[in-house]
Amino acid sequence: MYALQPEDLVNQRVLDCPGGPSGLVAGAIEREIDMLAVDPQYSETAEVLEQRGRGDITLTIDKARKDPALQMTDADYKAFEQEKQNALAAFIHAYRLHPERFVSGSLPELPFDDGAFDLVLSGHLLFVYAPRVLGGIMVNDAFDLDFHIAAARELIRVGNEVRIFPTYAFTGEVRRQPWVKPVMEALRGDGHHVSFLASRWEQQGHVDFNDSLRIVRCREISG
Ligand SMILES: C[S@@+](CC[C@H](N)C(=O)[O-])C[C@H]1O[C@@H](n2cnc3c(N)ncnc32)[C@H](O)[C@@H]1O
Repeated sequence: MYALQPEDLVNQRVLDCPGGPSGLVAGAIEREIDMLAVDPQYSETAEVLEQRGRGDITLTIDKARKDPALQMTDADYKAFEQEKQNALAAFIHAYRLHPERFVSGSLPELPFDDGAFDLVLSGHLLFVYAPRVLGGIMVNDAFDLDFHIAAARELIRVGNEVRIFPTYAFTGEVRRQPWVKPVMEALRGDGHHVSFLASRWEQQGHVDFNDSLRIVRCREISG
């Protein structure tokens, strides 16, 4: 997603926001990478998150099986489900053993100091939680354009560099998600360097617009 190799993260302070029930921090711990994750769900116990994660996997697979656009074989679905179960198991294991790595918090206000991290990774929240009519997954506009801009500003406040994935429309016709451009303009207006970085991972066959958004802080934080 982020065009990174594990060695790029050595001696870096890394934040995964939102971490969700994913295996990223578990993989970082194995490689002795200094990574924290933040998510509103981390106010819950491991038992609640495990049960919720299992339910979400079942729902996702059931939905995918009914989607005629996804031409996946039975073996593909089984492999996808196994991958998700493995990630959930790795997450729950790490969540129980290393609670200090999982911080409860929500965008657009994170509980970290300015520049606390060298790198902030942000997957599958911004541009994905946009309304469905705009290529996101939400039936409402709880995560509107103002939220997206405020959230991106918060990510670059706490990190020297931010990478956000994906930037393509998650639903509907193949295109760049329409809020990517105004978010880029706002962050450029603040003085940051903003560019696309090609992803090396093809999610559900997405090839076009398969980039993360890279924001590099270019000015001192004021205020
Ligand atoms: C689809 S998961 C993404 C997990 C992981 N980054 C990935 O790419 O698989 C989206 C996460 O966003 C979290 N979330 C929802 N609202 C949020 C907010 N306002 N700030 C931060 N995270 C939020 C949810 O709790 C959920 O865990």
